[in-house]
Amino acid sequence: VTVKQTHRTGFHFQPPKHWINDPNGPMYYNGIYHFFYQYNPKGAVWGNIVWAHSVSRDMINWQALEPAIYPSKPFDIKGCWSGSVTILPGNKPIILYTGIDSEERQLQDYAVPKNLSDPYLREWVKPDNNPLVFPHGVNASAFRDPTTAWWEDDGHWRMLVGSRRKQRGIAYLYRSKDFMKWTKAKHPIHSKEKTGMWECPDFFPVSLSGTNGLDTSYRGPNLKYVFKISLDMTRYDYYTVGSYFRDKDRYVPDNTSVDGWDGLRYDYGNFYASKTFFDAGKNRRILWGWANESDSKDDDVDKGWAGVQAIPRSLWLDPSGKQVLQWPIQELETLRGKNAEISNKVLQSGENVEVGQGITAAQADVEVTFSFPSLDKAEPFDPSWVNAEKLCGQKGSTVKGGVGPFGLLTLASEKLEEYTPVFFRIFKAPNKHVVLMCSDATSSSLKTTGLYKPSFAGFVDVDLADKKLSLRSLIDHSVVESFGAGGKTCITSRVYPTLAVFSNAHLFAFNNGTETVTIDKLNAWSMNKPQMNE
Ligand code: FRU
Repeated sequence: VTVKQTHRTGFHFQPPKHWINDPNGPMYYNGIYHFFYQYNPKGAVWGNIVWAHSVSRDMINWQALEPAIYPSKPFDIKGCWSGSVTILPGNKPIILYTGIDSEERQLQDYAVPKNLSDPYLREWVKPDNNPLVFPHGVNASAFRDPTTAWWEDDGHWRMLVGSRRKQRGIAYLYRSKDFMKWTKAKHPIHSKEKTGMWECPDFFPVSLSGTNGLDTSYRGPNLKYVFKISLDMTRYDYYTVGSYFRDKDRYVPDNTSVDGWDGLRYDYGNFYASKTFFDAGKNRRILWGWANESDSKDDDVDKGWAGVQAIPRSLWLDPSGKQVLQWPIQELETLRGKNAEISNKVLQSGENVEVGQGITAAQADVEVTFSFPSLDKAEPFDPSWVNAEKLCGQKGSTVKGGVGPFGLLTLASEKLEEYTPVFFRIFKAPNKHVVLMCSDATSSSLKTTGLYKPSFAGFVDVDLADKKLSLRSLIDHSVVESFGAGGKTCITSRVYPTLAVFSNAHLFAFNNGTETVTIDKLNAWSMNKPQMNE
């Protein structure tokens, strides 16, 4: 295969070629980060799935190793699908993953390092007592993606497996004393009708205060739980914040959290099958997610690769307790090179300014804070506008508003034939304001066939008392990954410009509202290339 370079990313996680999907079993072990992922060693389409393996000291520079798990035994001969790592007492990692057997049944298997004194844990073995869990009493074609297990002081481990019964999405709970013999609990830890298959469940505690993460087995006061599922029907990752009732082994979302696809998402764009892990090195919880392509299968085969991982994000509970906050790991900042700065620049209604001249706008990190003198001109909000993506589709970046739309035009060609706007629009509702954040791929590429160009959008639950809104965008050739209001709402777009490539890509700030907007401060950095699995 020749790998086409135009849309390959500079600093996002990618192997040199071929297809990738879900992040698997991320962990921090003896000073090294391990990352596994679903990988097709034979081509740029899904299939022949193995667990590819890379290691890093900073989650930014990566060294590729041999695949850790690949089909080799009756219990995984047709595929080694997603799963998680648990670090057992005595500092012993163990992988739980879904194996596909010759009858296409989904089983839960395990693997352990062959040699714990190899710092890279290159080789993994699958002991003969596999599989650990057969699909008894469950749908054998919808029974997969085991979570990191947690330990309870009744002496039993717990883990979850995603599933469905008819159209009810389910996270089954299994218990074990020795990690080898697992018994299904009478009740799932959580389920919801009409949501379809729950892929890649994730379940972990978050602290009620501060940004530190907690070990998945942590117990104590002053915490809540986050429960995440990947909905096969919509291809987004949804989460709720709630409580874990240990006496009944049930998770119950708070009444401020909504289950299913009306609920909160980690990301309102291309971000799926995500998974967190507790980084004991820096006491934080890290989120990994797959940023799948928005081009066609033929395009993927032609370019010789498909899929990247979003930049790992620190994740913690918002002080409101109603949602999580996400922010790119601080290590990313080590890649920042040449800088361009703007401060106190007024953007009149309809004004565009080029920012960051002299930086590599196709491979950049941008942080900006906008302010506005008043909210009086905000457009009225129609309460029937419940679908953010639809609203963004109707009121794109060029449709004049009151306060907003304002934001960035990323991956823009010089004369704006192509651009991916990331922006805010503020509405007035009775007693409050509604903030819409969009990452709109509609005008991202002049290519007219085979591309999915959605107007991704989410609402931002932010206090506007200080009349400011902040935005950070990580721009990387075919990825624009944005964080609104300090990580309250995140949107990742995959786009494929034809003109706005390499040194022909530009970055602008714009204001298409009638109200004036000021760039309080903007910093844009060229991003250097890390070592990436070469
Ligand atoms: C999610 C998923 C998982 C499965 C894996 C197979 O993208 O479908 O449910 O384990 O991918 O590659």
